[in-house]
Amino acid sequence: MRRTLIAANWKMNGLRDDAIALAAAVAGHAGGAAAPDCDIVVCPPAPLLVPVGEALGAGPVALGGQDCHAEASGAFTGDTAAPLLADLGCRFVIVGHSERRQGHGESDATVRAKAQAAQAAGLTPIVCLGETEAERAAGEALAVIERQVAGSVPERGDALVLAYEPVWAIGTGKVATPEDVAEAHGHIRARLGVLFGPEAAARIRLLYGGSVKPDNAAGLLALADVDGALVGGASLKAEEFRAICRASP
Ligand code: PGA
Repeated sequence: MRRTLIAANWKMNGLRDDAIALAAAVAGHAGGAAAPDCDIVVCPPAPLLVPVGEALGAGPVALGGQDCHAEASGAFTGDTAAPLLADLGCRFVIVGHSERRQGHGESDATVRAKAQAAQAAGLTPIVCLGETEAERAAGEALAVIERQVAGSVPERGDALVLAYEPVWAIGTGKVATPEDVAEAHGHIRARLGVLFGPEAAARIRLLYGGSVKPDNAAGLLALADVDGALVGGASLKAEEFRAICRASP
C-alpha cells in the first residue's frame, strides 16, 4: 500500500519570516488532532532550508530541496550538492522540474544524474516529467512521457518518487482531466514495471502536479495510480495547503 505524499514546492517565493511562519503553520497542522493520514514534505528555496527545517522541528513534516547538482561537490558556482541537502536535514529533493528543464536547459540525462546523486546522498528524488501543451495537442503526450521515464529515471527504483506534471497545467489554473491523469499515471507505472519489475514499480509513488487546489485535490488523489500531489501556488497559503493534505484518501 502506497502512502499518500503531498509535496509543497515553494519555488522562488518568500522571505525568511514568511517561510518560518508558513512552515510553522504546516507543521502545527500535521501534528495536530486533525492530522491528515499522509506524508508531507516542504521544499523551500535553498537559502531558507535551515530556518524552515528549524520551524518544522522534529515533527512529521519532512524537508526537501528544489534541485541538486549531479556532482557531490566541486566548482559549481550557485549550485547545491545533494550531500549538503542531506546534511541540512532534507529527505527529498525535486529534480527535473519543467521550470529547470525549460529555464536551465536540463536534459533527461542531467535529470537522471541528479536523481542518482540524490539517492547516493541518501535522499529520495522526486523526478518530474510531463508534456507541453503543443506535445499534447499533437497527440504525443504518452510518447513524451515514455521518453522522459526512459531517460530521466535513475537506475535504482528504491527511494524514488515520480511527479507527472503536464507543463501546461503548472501555475495556469488548467488541470488535466481525470481521464488524462489516470492514463498518464497508468502509462508511467507500466514503464516503471518494464524498468524495475512489477513489484518494485508498484511501490513507487506517482504524484500529480499542476494547479492542484483544495477544490480539485480529492478528485485527483482518488484516481488509480495517483499517490499524492506536488503543489506549487496553493502550497504558499497554509489554509489551502492544509485543505489539500486533508483531501488525502
Ligand atoms: P502549481 O505548481 O501548483 O502552481 O501549478 C506545481 C509545480 O510546479 O510543482
